[in-house]
Parts: sequence; C-alpha cells; structure tokens
Amino acid sequence: MNSLLLIAHPEPDSYNAQLRRIAMDVLARHGTVEVSDLYAQAFDPAERAAHYPRPLDRRRFDTQAEQRHACEQGSLPEDVAGELSRLRRADLLMLQFPLWWFGAPAMLKGWIDRVFVYGGMYSSRRRFDRGVCRGKRALLGVTVGSPAARCGADGIEGDTRVHLWPLLYSLRYVGFDVLEPLLLFGIHPPRADSDGAGQRRHLQQQADAYRRALEDLRQRPSIAFNAQDDWDASGCLRDGRRVLAPAWPHAAAPASGSTAA
Ligand SMILES: Cc1cc2nc3c(=O)[nH]c(=O)nc-3n(C[C@H](O)[C@H](O)[C@H](O)COP(=O)(O)O)c2cc1C
Repeated sequence: MNSLLLIAHPEPDSYNAQLRRIAMDVLARHGTVEVSDLYAQAFDPAERAAHYPRPLDRRRFDTQAEQRHACEQGSLPEDVAGELSRLRRADLLMLQFPLWWFGAPAMLKGWIDRVFVYGGMYSSRRRFDRGVCRGKRALLGVTVGSPAARCGADGIEGDTRVHLWPLLYSLRYVGFDVLEPLLLFGIHPPRADSDGAGQRRHLQQQADAYRRALEDLRQRPSIAFNAQDDWDASGCLRDGRRVLAPAWPHAAAPASGSTAA
C-alpha cells in the first residue's frame, strides 16, 4: 500500500506532529509513505490568476476554465502538479490536521481548492463512484480542542462529523472511498490550573487509540455514500432511493408546531 500523509499544522513540535510520526510508523509497515507537509512546503493555499502564466483569458480569471485549460495543456502550477503526482501514486490519502473554527485549517482547504483541479480530478461525468480516485481510500485524522461530550449532536460545540462534512463529501466527490474519520477530542496542552497529570494521561491514551486504529485500518468502515446512478438528470434522488449517508444521521424531528425556516 502506498500512502500519502498530508499534514496541515504550523508547529513541528505539536501534538499533530506526534500523530504524524505515529501514522508514518504504522503506515510504513504496510508499504511506502510520502508526506505533504503543507506549512513546511510553504504551500500557497490561495487559488488565483498569478498561478497561471499562460491563461486562456487574460482579462478575467475564471477558475474552473483556467484549471481545465492548464490540465489539458500540461501547464498546471508546479506545486499542484507535484501534489497530483503524489496523489496518483497513493492508495491511501490521510489528512492530519487540528479542527480550526469548526473546519479544516485554511491551508488544507486551499490545498483542495488548488489540487482538486477541474478537468483533471473531476468533471460532471467523473464523480462519486465514477470519480478519478475510485479504488483509493481517504482518511481524516482530526484533533479537536473540546471534549467529546460537547461535540455530539446535542453538544454546545455542535456535531464534529457535521463540521467535517464538506471535506468528507469533497473526498467522495472525486471518487475516494472515505473511511470514518479518526477524531481525537479534548486535545490541548495540560493547563496550569487543571489536572496536568490527568490531561497528559488523556493525550497518551488518545495517541495509543490512534495508533491502534491505524493498525486496524482494514476493519475501519467507510461512509456509505450514494452512487452517481442514484441521482437523476436534475441532480435529485431517483424515486425509491434514499440518502445513504446523511450528514446528520441523528437529526431530531422538528418540535411540533415549529416551521422550517
Ligand atoms: C485558530 C484555531 C481555531 C480553533 N477552533 C477550534 C474549534 O472550532 N473547536 C475546537 O474544539 N477546538 C478548536 N481549536 C483548538 C484546536 O483544535 C486544538 O488546539 C488542536 O486540535 C490541538 O492540537 P495541536 O496541539 O497539535 O495544535 C482551535 C484552535 C485554533 C488555533
């Protein structure tokens, strides 16, 4: 198995960096591991005209048109082409990052914006189970500052799985078999005013569970997304089909008398 481990964290001595070392150690036992360390590479996450010196249209930057044109001409930006080559070689894409503002750090969002190029990574015909990355698996490893109890559907932080949904859906959109994410809650340094030893124990337990989950990756379920054929020409579910993977499976029924906004 060839793995591509993508890490989006600015600090080489962070807890995420510790997880990265665990992931490299475990994944290397199954085959090769390549690493995309977005901060260390100074990856530019902002898609813009300057990345395309030979554009289709110099007057107006149409992002998808320029991505497709560059793909067809073989003139994709060098950093994007490099990431795409790594992706092509990978059987498993693992994205490791901290939850920042209920989503991925901008660095990672920008990697998707720029590397999942229109015309190369997807088109209207090549999506979901027909996507370019079909046969490959994708896994998110996410550290969350808040404790698990606050991050469920009834928790004050909201459901972390829902916050990650745009990312999970994007991975499926380009064809990946998307595994249930690895979520590590309550990840913060021991605080002076709290039980430091208890927090250190918690961090160690979480790292141990992370290692075990990676060692048992074959057992990890994937999210049961709908197939392309489940949707009709207008993009809605065909009669008799149901949404296989709702973003919020535990959604409560609206209270009686309430109206949908
Ligand atoms: C910009 C920023 C935004 C954050 N947003 C959230 C958040 O939305 N929810 C949360 O539980 N923790 C949040 N945190 C806390 C981080 O998730 C937490 O510090 C990190 O996962 C710990 O891993 P690290 O030590 O490797 O950085 C945020 C931290 C930063 C710096």
